[in-house]
Amino acid sequence: MAIEARLIHGDCTEELKKIEENSIDLIVTSPPYADQRKNSYGGINPDRYVDWFLPISEELLRVLKPTGSFILNIKEKVVNGERHTYVIELILEMRKQGWLWTEEFIWHKKNSYPGKWPNRFRDSWERLLQFNKNKKFKMFQETVMVPRGDWAKNRLSNLSEKDRIRDESKAGSGFGKNVSNWLNREKVYPTNVLHMATQCNNKNHSAAFPESLPEWFIKLFTKEGDWVLDPFMGAGTTIKVAQRMMRNSIGIEIQEKYFKMVEKNIKSKQFHLFEKTVTYAVNQT
Ligand SMILES: C[S@@+](CC[C@H](N)C(=O)[O-])C[C@H]1O[C@@H](n2cnc3c(N)ncnc32)[C@H](O)[C@@H]1O
Repeated sequence: MAIEARLIHGDCTEELKKIEENSIDLIVTSPPYADQRKNSYGGINPDRYVDWFLPISEELLRVLKPTGSFILNIKEKVVNGERHTYVIELILEMRKQGWLWTEEFIWHKKNSYPGKWPNRFRDSWERLLQFNKNKKFKMFQETVMVPRGDWAKNRLSNLSEKDRIRDESKAGSGFGKNVSNWLNREKVYPTNVLHMATQCNNKNHSAAFPESLPEWFIKLFTKEGDWVLDPFMGAGTTIKVAQRMMRNSIGIEIQEKYFKMVEKNIKSKQFHLFEKTVTYAVNQT
């Protein structure tokens, strides 16, 4: 199978317009957070964040396949002693644009060290918002199953009568559980809290996410040969993982130094990783 990594140097506001509609299976991205890291790659004023992002999410809606998913890694910053509401406002505006806000995963940064400010503690989690175009989308839940874990030892050793029948959710959600179903199972489904360490060893980009993060979503939402897009490519974590997992990918990065770095890394790795299976295209704008 020939796998392609398409690297684009430019502003995603413009470059996304050149991508074919309904062509992408998964978007995983971490845009610049409001006003943070202004010196390294620019920041957007929190009050203007929603207006800045909406034209981009409009394009993402256009390029995503009807069966695809969009994972947005974002966190609201603190302004004048309280959390700014731009993430909440963005979700509401994106719903008006036509997106479904399907799920919210929490990325728990499990290697956070303790700390406090006068009125708060160390931030050790970020949002991973999942948006879709349709209620039915591709999802391969078995690919992210985890070892059953210690909870089962106590919980399953002494089952009551009720644990052996399906217990319907009282909230009327249609969900139900039969605890005894988990007897003798090695693997279980994960929760929507992802415990992953931050990337501490990437000296080349101040905000690279760990490879385990795009990897988890690529497994869950795509198959080999599918197309993965990161419109805020940074150090290229999404692209690197997509290549390793035999997915086609498109990465857009506005800053030349990051773009060049990814270009070099992908070029040097592609040969020995995949021999002749990876083709490589660069669009210098
Ligand atoms: C939070 S970082 C992404 C880090 C990335 N997830 C990684 O693992 O390396 C955001 C990146 O978006 C880039 N960027 C900011 N505005 C952009 C735009 N309009 N178009 C494309 N890239 C942009 C920044 O230069 C920065 O490298």
